[in-house]
Amino acid sequence: MEREADSKRGGASPVAGGEGLTVGLGLRLGLAEELLGSSSSAATFLEICPENYVGVGGRRARVLASARERWPILCHGLCGDFAGLAPLNLELLGGIKGLLREVGAPWYSDHLCWTQVGGAELHELVAMPFTEASVRRAARRLREVAEVLEVPIAVENVSAYGHAVSPEMDEASFVRAVVEEAGCYLLLDVNNVYVNSVNFGFDARAYIDALPLERVIQLHVAGHDTEGEDMLLDTHAAAIVDPVYALLDYTLRRMPHSAPVLLERDGNFPPLAELEAELRRLAEIMEGARG
Ligand SMILES: [Fe+2]
Repeated sequence: MEREADSKRGGASPVAGGEGLTVGLGLRLGLAEELLGSSSSAATFLEICPENYVGVGGRRARVLASARERWPILCHGLCGDFAGLAPLNLELLGGIKGLLREVGAPWYSDHLCWTQVGGAELHELVAMPFTEASVRRAARRLREVAEVLEVPIAVENVSAYGHAVSPEMDEASFVRAVVEEAGCYLLLDVNNVYVNSVNFGFDARAYIDALPLERVIQLHVAGHDTEGEDMLLDTHAAAIVDPVYALLDYTLRRMPHSAPVLLERDGNFPPLAELEAELRRLAEIMEGARG
């Protein structure tokens, strides 16, 4: 199923199934009616959060069925406690596995973070301590998840507003170490890199340079809100800002292969035309980077 990444920029994805996917949009109920009713879209795929669809009928099931008639579907988890400490939720993973097969998703991604502590659901994506012990634990768990799901899996770098004390490495090194030790892929959220670069005062481009870009199988971009001069909130409820477009361009030009780029919009939904304009700008950036 896997194949080697091409050595030149613009080569094929390291994982089969991503061919032909360029820019895509997160399928949200707040957007669904306008999107499904539109006659054309710049989106070449849609992404769903499977936890919202496993075992669910009614409107959600109808929305997904009608989306599948028109677009390939990628699956991105939100509350799988992907790198957490609690025992794996095999019931949830079994449901997700069924959904991945049903929609033909080529891979599965979730966040490199904790969503539970001590059995309690945090309803937050909590950044992990950047330590060797965390790397080993997360990698072991990610290998277990991949075994259960039987598809390639990818971890997403998360946005954060505070970190555990006494880190043994920086964030980019932590992400690289987990990906390499787990043998998994990376879903690179460029907006999260930008948000963290402001919140923690690091160089976003140096962070990108330190990542295993050859393992990136998908990218995310989104808008954020500004809480103060040096505090950004990763809300997915605003337009993408120019520095994030620029960071995406920088990233794509350094990647050895192409990978689909997803626009995440989770709230404060504008008219679809505004999101379509963002998608077209993203497609132009991808095209320029491939050239
Ligand atoms: Fe994301």
